[in-house]
Amino acid sequence: MQHVILITEMLQLESPIDAERWCSDQRHRGETLGFVPTMGALHKGHLSLVTRARAENSVCCVSIFINPLQFEDRRDYETYPRDTGSDLVLLEAQGCDMVFMGNLKQFFPEVSDLSKIDILPAGPHGLGLEEKFRPGHLDGVRTIVERLFRTVGVSRVYFGEKDFQQTLVVSDLAREMGYPSIVVCPTVREDSGLALSSRNVLLSQDDKSRAEQIYPALLAARDAWLSGERTAGVLSAVMTDCLNHDGIVVEYAEVRDPARWTAEPPQTPLLRAQALIAARVGSVRLIDNLRLDQ
Ligand code: PAF
Repeated sequence: MQHVILITEMLQLESPIDAERWCSDQRHRGETLGFVPTMGALHKGHLSLVTRARAENSVCCVSIFINPLQFEDRRDYETYPRDTGSDLVLLEAQGCDMVFMGNLKQFFPEVSDLSKIDILPAGPHGLGLEEKFRPGHLDGVRTIVERLFRTVGVSRVYFGEKDFQQTLVVSDLAREMGYPSIVVCPTVREDSGLALSSRNVLLSQDDKSRAEQIYPALLAARDAWLSGERTAGVLSAVMTDCLNHDGIVVEYAEVRDPARWTAEPPQTPLLRAQALIAARVGSVRLIDNLRLDQ
């Protein structure tokens, strides 16, 4: 019996302009493009996005770029995990066709002084929660994602639901630009329930056990919802009580109506509810969320 081994070679491009050309060539050939934007330090959550992009499109590409515009804290930017060598191996094994990188200058070639890049406001879904604790973060996300969308062009773009507010902001952007299609994919969790995040590698063993309290807090809010609780403040208190441990600093544990985003928690009984948590464990900031009504 003859065994056929298919060896696919992933193309690695060093600049957005090369990536733009490649994506445009693919479209001219009639291929459909799936795109996964990342900041590297890839984990199974990212790889699940690549698997989906691969399955739903004829070609798949990934960007790796740690966007300084979305870090309001310089130290967070400097300590953000980086492992390009391992990222490339994982992407090739996952069947990614092309990966591209770049630097800020390459993404904004028209700007001579990079401290003067025009930052795009995140828009109405950028208000509250992340905005309060990471001012400017979602503006920086929208600014780079607009460049990434322009680079890849018409495509399907895959985002993880863990960054819930980000998915709303980039969906608004795509609607305004007229492309791409946004696909929001479920959060991938460890067996303990801890949401996978590139930042998890920065947690000590003790901090990891503390971080594992976040998902049970979301589940407790869902239990309260299933028991008939519809008041944002009460659902919020349920989560905060679960997170009342030494070593966890809760930034927010709140509920929003995902279809009617408001900067502050809704004051009237909820029809739909997304519970969202941001907490600092040691020096690491983690976010997670859960839909309560589905
Ligand atoms: O979610 C991320 O990794 C980043 O915010 C993104 C979308 C790649 C933009 O830098």
